Amino acid sequence: MRIYLETFGCQMNELDSQLVRGQLSCLGHTFTEDPSIAEVLLYNTCSVREHAEQKAYSRIGIVGQRKRAGEHLILGVIGCMAERDGLDMLVRHPQIDLLCGPGELDKLPALIDNASRTHDLPRPDRAALAGNKSRRTATLAAADDDLESLDLARMFDPSTDDGRHRSAYVRITRGCNKFCTYCVVPRTRGAEVHRPPDHIVAECRRLADAGVIEVTLLGQTVNHYSYTHGVAVTLSGTEAPQVGAAVRPNGRNDSGSHATARKTTFAGLLRRIHEEVPSLRRIRFLTSYPRDFGLDALEAMRDCPRICPYLHAPAQSGSNRILRLMNRGYEVEEYVDFAHRAIETVPDLCLAGDFIVGFPTETEADFAATVDLVQRLPFKNNFIFKYSPRPGTVAFDRLPDDIPDEVKRARNNRLLAVQAGVSARVHAGWVGRTVDVLVDTVRSVPKANPAPNGVELRWERPVGRWQVVGRTAGDLIVTAPFDAGNPSHLIGTIVQVQLEAARPLLLLGTLLTDG
Ligand code: 5AD
Ligand code: SF4
Repeated sequence: MRIYLETFGCQMNELDSQLVRGQLSCLGHTFTEDPSIAEVLLYNTCSVREHAEQKAYSRIGIVGQRKRAGEHLILGVIGCMAERDGLDMLVRHPQIDLLCGPGELDKLPALIDNASRTHDLPRPDRAALAGNKSRRTATLAAADDDLESLDLARMFDPSTDDGRHRSAYVRITRGCNKFCTYCVVPRTRGAEVHRPPDHIVAECRRLADAGVIEVTLLGQTVNHYSYTHGVAVTLSGTEAPQVGAAVRPNGRNDSGSHATARKTTFAGLLRRIHEEVPSLRRIRFLTSYPRDFGLDALEAMRDCPRICPYLHAPAQSGSNRILRLMNRGYEVEEYVDFAHRAIETVPDLCLAGDFIVGFPTETEADFAATVDLVQRLPFKNNFIFKYSPRPGTVAFDRLPDDIPDEVKRARNNRLLAVQAGVSARVHAGWVGRTVDVLVDTVRSVPKANPAPNGVELRWERPVGRWQVVGRTAGDLIVTAPFDAGNPSHLIGTIVQVQLEAARPLLLLGTLLTDG
């Protein structure tokens, strides 16, 4: 069948979509970028903020109209919205033929197959959801982890390679146990489970053999990774017991001996991938949780030249009172200490993060503390979000969403302006240096679009010129003009750029090599 697959939300969803695409292609399905000619429409949804849900609902509404007009289509909602809303969604939106949660994607082909054969399946047979299974003990969740096979069976087809596939995501942990009060992820993606390091290294090697030069290791709290060998599964943050033995609070197992199983830490995993897959030019990871970041991982970043000096570590707020209400588990000074330790340990470290403005009860003084934190640290960028109350979270149940939307919007804009100044300073510090840039885009500005005042500035408006755009190891965005025709052959290669000017969002330079 011909499938249209659209993805909303985060990198974890992008990876899930890639895997789903591979799995369904293997079974003979084809994919199209045009929803009007597809027989199956799949929406991989995100529940983190209401806005992403609204976009998905608008697509679901349009498909509903097409089906009522007589088109025979299969509509599938996969990902976090399916998991959170569950079977209720099928009652409210009867045009949906199948639902599949992010922890059940291995069952998607069967659901599509069923939907194509029978249109009036009972509702429970149209859905694969973890439901209350998702927060059973992590042991059970992991032991039942059929999803592992989905990651392991990923497809990479170099024949379709146009250079854009030189970069790939690799999952190292699933789920999250942090329970930040605003966040729906622990509910939709379930308990934290850590993949065996051998599987991760093998996946990196397979990708590298197929031409990938950059992998980004993914986890909701990626640095929390820890795998205890010799047990069936590894639980988050605990010393996993030997199979069949329960660990008592004193750390002894039932046989009375201390658990001695060998452990692979996050730092160990980084070093293993670095050593065992030497053809990877860049090893990156997302998203870091500030509290659990050990010096050993920072040292691995310092010692291994192909591990990128980039940390995305969301602070979320600069107010200790708000951080407590968010259940983040650290105070502002701890975040600042962590950031300084990272900057001192890892040369050329680039720091990025996330902030939420307008969390319930946030006062002007709390917001001022956030502004202060953004100004104190050299963040290259921050993603800034307006608080969005999410059903199923502690904040939704216990804290009224009492900050008016115009206040949230104003704080969002003020923080963006402060961040623009900080980013411009950080970028300015790079001018004059030569950096390696992994090219991901080429573009040209048409001649028909001249500068409004008739003056063509070298950097502002490269009219009629080609430009390459890419990222440094620290994830700084760099653009450079290219005068010898269309530079698409450079996509997916690493080129050297001499940096000459800085803007809040990017650096501008001259290409020294062509990869
Ligand atoms: N409202 C606004 N932002 C949120 N995030 C997560 N949940 C919410 C919410 N309910 C943001 C956090 C997180 C990023 C992925 O999304 O900043 O780090
Ligand atoms: Fe959500 Fe907090 Fe887990 Fe991040 S660490 S996924 S914000 S609960």
